[in-house]
Amino acid sequence: MSIKRIAIAFSGEGSNLEVLIESLHQKTFGDFKVKVVAAITNNPKANGIKRAQKHGIDVIMIDHRAYESREAFDEALVAEIKALDVELMVLAGFMRILTPVYTKQIRSINIHPSLLPAFKGANALERSFDSAEKIAGVTAHFVVEEVDGGEIIMQKSFDKSGMDFETFKEKIHACEHELFPKAVIEVLG
Ligand code: GAR
Repeated sequence: MSIKRIAIAFSGEGSNLEVLIESLHQKTFGDFKVKVVAAITNNPKANGIKRAQKHGIDVIMIDHRAYESREAFDEALVAEIKALDVELMVLAGFMRILTPVYTKQIRSINIHPSLLPAFKGANALERSFDSAEKIAGVTAHFVVEEVDGGEIIMQKSFDKSGMDFETFKEKIHACEHELFPKAVIEVLG
């Protein structure tokens, strides 16, 4: 039985982080077992820190404010990730634009609250809600230099007709929580 080592990066609430830990960490899928070796955050106030620690996962803090450029932050991030010896980085609400310093060296996947290629970038959830499109959803995709531009792994969609913003937001998060662990397993498998 092989062990597949992953790490998860987050910046805020950490609901995806927690679902990923609960559904993947130390669990067996076919002929491999997943180990979440660490969680990484750029935000000392992120609620996800408590969520990771509750499950006994070490949290590595790399505060982006301590770095003078995006590239300098990415170099520090890459060094930490290389030291972890993981085969996949999972970005779960990690709110940083990553430069080629990162994207060329680290294999990563991300979850995004829209049906890409629609609504790339910031405030995607709000823009998707406000749009005239009837169908909304979430996307798991590979991370490349172009923000939210990497190959799509999986999507989940729903009809948002008649939903208020709170219901819509809950539905988006529920879809993410269902889809993202499946996407990680698909990529690792
Ligand atoms: C999620 O909805 C995720 O799709 C979004 O941040 C939220 C994090 O929630 N990510 C992006 O918008 C990336 N561009 P969480 O901290 O509760 O997992």
